[in-house]
Amino acid sequence: MDKIKIGLVGLGTVGSGVFKELYNNDKVEISKIVVKNLNKKRDIKGLENVQISDNVDDIIFDKDIKIVIEVIGGLNPAFDIIKKSIENGKHVVTANKELLAKKGEEIFEIAEKNNKVILYEAAVAGGIPIINPLKTILSNNRLTKVAAILNGTTNYILTKMEQDSADYNEVLADAQKLGYAEVDPTSDVEGYDAAYKIAILSTLAFKKRVSIDKIYREGITNIKAEDIECASDFGYKIKLIALAQIFDESKIDVRVHPMLVKNNKSLAHINFVTNAIMMQGKPIGEIMCSGPGAGEFPTAASVVGDVMTIASEINNTDIILPMMRCTHSVPAEMVDVTETENRYYLSVNAKNKIGVIEALGRAFSQNNISVSNILQKGVQDNDSANIVIITELCKEKDMQKAVSLLKNDSCVNQINSLIRVME
Ligand code: HSE
Repeated sequence: MDKIKIGLVGLGTVGSGVFKELYNNDKVEISKIVVKNLNKKRDIKGLENVQISDNVDDIIFDKDIKIVIEVIGGLNPAFDIIKKSIENGKHVVTANKELLAKKGEEIFEIAEKNNKVILYEAAVAGGIPIINPLKTILSNNRLTKVAAILNGTTNYILTKMEQDSADYNEVLADAQKLGYAEVDPTSDVEGYDAAYKIAILSTLAFKKRVSIDKIYREGITNIKAEDIECASDFGYKIKLIALAQIFDESKIDVRVHPMLVKNNKSLAHINFVTNAIMMQGKPIGEIMCSGPGAGEFPTAASVVGDVMTIASEINNTDIILPMMRCTHSVPAEMVDVTETENRYYLSVNAKNKIGVIEALGRAFSQNNISVSNILQKGVQDNDSANIVIITELCKEKDMQKAVSLLKNDSCVNQINSLIRVME
């Protein structure tokens, strides 16, 4: 039998891994590759036998190509490439989390209209199989919570900050030198990347379309070495957590922000660039999947897995992979972060004078907040003191009111940090 022909759009890190993995495959062959820069030197075995072009139309309008792999990322021109590929009879495999999070509904509709599938295992948590399991083996569970570490760059930075007692900027600069962080790290360190990924995961987990615009997002740029040390004294790690949970029967709470994670939880021990996804639901209970969240070969493994899944169905049936199609078009009703309840870690720099603890206690009691832990490690040379508090569960609105009272209190020099604590 003839091999199934594939068009590969993008030959960066992931594209190269995909090409190497599929080279000499006995079922499928990459027959054309589209790149941005034809003159770039590429030392990849077998590339000399493939037609390489800088015009996507060479793939889109090639009738022999049955599957298009899009690994260029970003909204444009990826959206157009995927749309036209589907309209020209191709199935699509993509790793494009931003596109799926922002335009998922639109491209899945186009795919359905044209009886084609879009698979995207590589878009979330690189090499960890999570998308396809959510659509198949896990789909009958009533999931109530997903808490995940979905960004390797930030997890690397936080792990290094902890291990070396180092500041954020110092570790970021090192991570950039070593290639663990991008030159422009905004998408990772400000939580955009994790927000795209949790939008995709929570849409599948709760079977309603989660809007990326309604996801509350905070990055790790304000996390200080002292916070990590203090959290450790209390028995916690600080992680950038992508959280999605059922809020009440009708609403979903989805957010990305740093959290203190108790050392007895598995997520606290996910270090460096490793990703992990914890899910709770019925009847399954609690599970966690962890592994490489990025990188040439782990990500290629997911892309190739999707390609082989589609290839095994082509020519066998008119409607391939019905369970893998995305049907979640009903919008999720999402709760605003101000409506949520959390525990908090609050670090305050106060004057060294009588009545400071009383002032803190007053701000909390006036706002129905109960304190669980409190720590002051002596007084600093400049006659100020850092006081760290962990609260019991309380309303975000009440915490914000307490913080603004404290900001205006004459005892308080400044609020150092306010970080949510995982339940
Ligand atoms: N930039 C991502 C990370 C990998 O740092 O995990 C690609 O999704």
